[in-house]
Amino acid sequence: MNAPIDRHAATAVPIHPLLASRHSTRAFAPGHDLDDAQIAALLEAARWAPSAGNTQPWRFLLAKRDTGEFKRVLDCLNAGNRDWAGHASALLVGVRTDANAKGPLAHAAYDLGQAMAHLTFQAAAEGLTVRQMGGFDAAALAAEFDLAAPLVPTVVAAIGVPGDPAALPESVAGPDRKTRARLGVDDLLINP
Ligand SMILES: Cc1cc2nc3c(=O)[nH]c(=O)nc-3n(C[C@H](O)[C@H](O)[C@H](O)COP(=O)(O)O)c2cc1C
Repeated sequence: MNAPIDRHAATAVPIHPLLASRHSTRAFAPGHDLDDAQIAALLEAARWAPSAGNTQPWRFLLAKRDTGEFKRVLDCLNAGNRDWAGHASALLVGVRTDANAKGPLAHAAYDLGQAMAHLTFQAAAEGLTVRQMGGFDAAALAAEFDLAAPLVPTVVAAIGVPGDPAALPESVAGPDRKTRARLGVDDLLINP
């Protein structure tokens, strides 16, 4: 058997250990329920994210494993995501609201992303892992849960205890069998 891949970030300079060790796995320990304190901490972390004008244009639909809601969210995922996300402890739909009583919220998607980032790091601190997904049918999900404009389902996050990537079927294991890679900082900087 091959040695497990080290999925810690090989950072160019030291960063906070939580940031370096966080990664998105498709392997979840099956049969694990999140406890209420963990769920409260995840949502609290998201709640305290910054947002444009403090508009907080994020809403969440939490579907715990072994519930009808979980199955309904799972059924809206793309086939490739359904293959592994069903083992997660919960599926969290990140919904943005594109307007409030004062008018359109141009940064709603950006702000929801920040809230999801906060949630992701709190999850890492709780010993949980999160894999976010854009691979789902947003229109079907909106119809399934009566989410009308300005509410827009934007991301689904699979949350749970990390499992054994070696146990993943070959067809879904791809990312978990690769070292993690990023563009270099030089590639990110725009030099005027
Ligand atoms: C908005 C968004 C959409 C994503 N969509 C999917 C998806 O549909 N399926 C999947 O397996 N991973 C998905 N991912 C996970 C990314 O592929 C993963 O975060 C990326 O490869 C970096 O890996 P890391 O999180 O381990 O650093 C998504 C991540 C984000 C933030």
